[in-house]
Amino acid sequence: MGTPSTTAVIPAAGSGERLGAEGAKALVELAGRPMLEWSLRAFAAAPGVRAAVVAAPPGELDRFSALAADQDALEVHVVAGGASRSESVAAALDPVQTDVVAVHDAARPLVTPELISALIEKLEGRPDAAGVIVGAPIADTVKRAREPRGASGEVARGGPTIAKTESRDHLWLAQTPQVFRTASLLEALAASPQRVAEATDDAWLVEKQGGKVLIHPGPPDNLKVTTPFDLRVAALLLSERGDV
Ligand code: CTP
Ligand code: MG
Repeated sequence: MGTPSTTAVIPAAGSGERLGAEGAKALVELAGRPMLEWSLRAFAAAPGVRAAVVAAPPGELDRFSALAADQDALEVHVVAGGASRSESVAAALDPVQTDVVAVHDAARPLVTPELISALIEKLEGRPDAAGVIVGAPIADTVKRAREPRGASGEVARGGPTIAKTESRDHLWLAQTPQVFRTASLLEALAASPQRVAEATDDAWLVEKQGGKVLIHPGPPDNLKVTTPFDLRVAALLLSERGDV
């Protein structure tokens, strides 16, 4: 059995508000390259990855198309993203023709070809599963508070009160890449538009449809660039790799 042919689906249509960048976060320079290019290079070097589809901010299609045309190791298509992350994923899935897709946030530039291959191989060996995602174990002790946080993270006056300490044994932080059978992800994204708009990852939508999704423990450095602090850490780690 050869490695199944896979398409990378890369949501990159966010505005990067928390980074405070002008223009798209995915095109912000990071260790000498636009952030998105780091992920594209990792997918280009992963066996079995045939092409990538990038969901870009609708107003920046030209800049993203120029970057796509520059990639000689991978065929890269650009589509207009949607109002939410999942809507961007749905738009990027539209032209996909392979049986397996690897969804990966442009905001995680430290992904490696080895990690991508490990996920694809794990799914190939598990016909019962609809997908495999990267998960990070939780190092900190986890507390459940009595009061919920507000939508923007605001807390109760005087600080929330601890209701209980959760066991970490069953808890994982969901990251990308998230590799799925294309048919399972398409079915999950066809669920109610409200659910799709609310989703913060694709595995949740597949889980909701009853699909079995496996966790692959990821490396400690697969961080997501959200704030200027994250950008500095990512730049440091990428320069240390020596392939900048
Ligand atoms: N994303 C997308 N379409 C959207 C929103 C987000 O494709 N409508 C993508 C982002 O480009 C990013 C990934 O989803 O690669 C994860 O989103 P996040 O890290 O939140 O990025 P932004 O939405 O750009 O950042 P912020 O929330 O700070 O504005
Ligand atoms: Mg966002």
